[in-house]
Amino acid sequence: MADKSVGTESFATETQEKVERKLRWAIVGCGGIATTHLNAIAKIPEIEVVGGCDIKPERLQLMRDKYGMTATYEKWDDLLADLKPDVIDVCTPNGVHMPATVAALNAGCHVITEKPMAMTPAECQMMIDAAKANNKKLAVGFQFRYHPKTEFLVRAREAGDIGDIMFVKCQALRRRGIPNWGVFGQKALQGGGPMIDIGVHIMESAHYGIGSPKPVAASGNIWTYIGDKPSEVLSHWPNWDWKTFTVEDLAIGQIRFENGAIMQVESSFSAHIEKDVFNFQVMGTKGGYNWETNTLFTDHAGCMVNSQAAWLPSTEFGELFVRKLKNFASGCLNNTPLRAPGEAGLAVQKMIDGIYRSAEAGKEVTID
Ligand SMILES: NC(=O)c1ccc[n+]([C@@H]2O[C@H](COP(=O)([O-])OP(=O)(O)OC[C@H]3O[C@@H](n4cnc5c(N)ncnc54)[C@H](O)[C@@H]3O)[C@@H](O)[C@H]2O)c1
Repeated sequence: MADKSVGTESFATETQEKVERKLRWAIVGCGGIATTHLNAIAKIPEIEVVGGCDIKPERLQLMRDKYGMTATYEKWDDLLADLKPDVIDVCTPNGVHMPATVAALNAGCHVITEKPMAMTPAECQMMIDAAKANNKKLAVGFQFRYHPKTEFLVRAREAGDIGDIMFVKCQALRRRGIPNWGVFGQKALQGGGPMIDIGVHIMESAHYGIGSPKPVAASGNIWTYIGDKPSEVLSHWPNWDWKTFTVEDLAIGQIRFENGAIMQVESSFSAHIEKDVFNFQVMGTKGGYNWETNTLFTDHAGCMVNSQAAWLPSTEFGELFVRKLKNFASGCLNNTPLRAPGEAGLAVQKMIDGIYRSAEAGKEVTID
């Protein structure tokens, strides 16, 4: 099956097309990742930032002082009513993604929301329903779909180099990396810990890379043993808020897909391992792929062969954001395909939710 979204489109940041119309773009949640968005938007002529919203006045001050944002609001209802933007870019903590998205869609805006799409599949479905009811675009900020290594896997799979995919192992493991800012340790505001925060990145890119099979069952477990206690161990993000820490330190899970393939997921903020890992590895009937090393494993000319793309576009983090925001802007302006539409966010959310449900139930659970 040809995935039309992986073509020359991700290299389009290099082109200098004439911009016919600019999207009037506003950001809800002007924290850390919003600044990455603003730096990326500076390279996208199709986007004009018209305003921002945050509950913290000091963040709005920073937006005015450093990013020249002229219209700033503490409530998104006021922003929506005053500015009537074309797009709302949701960069709040996970628990706010759904209400901000639904409000913006109902106000007639297209919406791109940061990852994970929301806290639960039910919230994702409400967002998808609101987009359909208002005939607006909805995308999730899954930038690793635009990573050239992920694109290389898609191309190799479509060329038949991998064959049928049986297994994919996903790892987003930190030895000690509990965020010491924001609300990443608070389950009520985030929906979970490392699996929903960083596991989601590697799960979504792996899921996309293997052709987005339908998840049907999940099993797994989660453990909390470091984050909820004070610690004097040296680490690069010390002094996290252990008193409000209600999420897992480590999550291990397995997803079964309709086509029989299995995804294994390992994700941690804290784990007793040698070093951090961010990778996925694919095993197929004809070939395999290691994302981190960008290596394709096949049999060729009577030998087991390891091959790599000799040249790839920039893999720089900020550049991935340029590609993901540009894909969304193009979808809004020209009706081109979205690489991470709401439905893709829902599929990944169902996998995460399945592992959390299985951990609670102590057995495998089905995914509808
Ligand atoms: N794609 C990526 O690689 C990536 C990286 C980091 C974070 N994220 C995602 O971005 C989101 C934000 O993360 P962050 O690191 O920027 O967190 P952050 O805490 O730095 O920023 C979040 C901002 O949202 C604001 N906010 C909270 N509730 C609000 C509300 N009701 N209305 C308006 N503003 C509100 C906060 O005041 C804060 O300034 C999370 O969902 C996170 O998962 C994505």
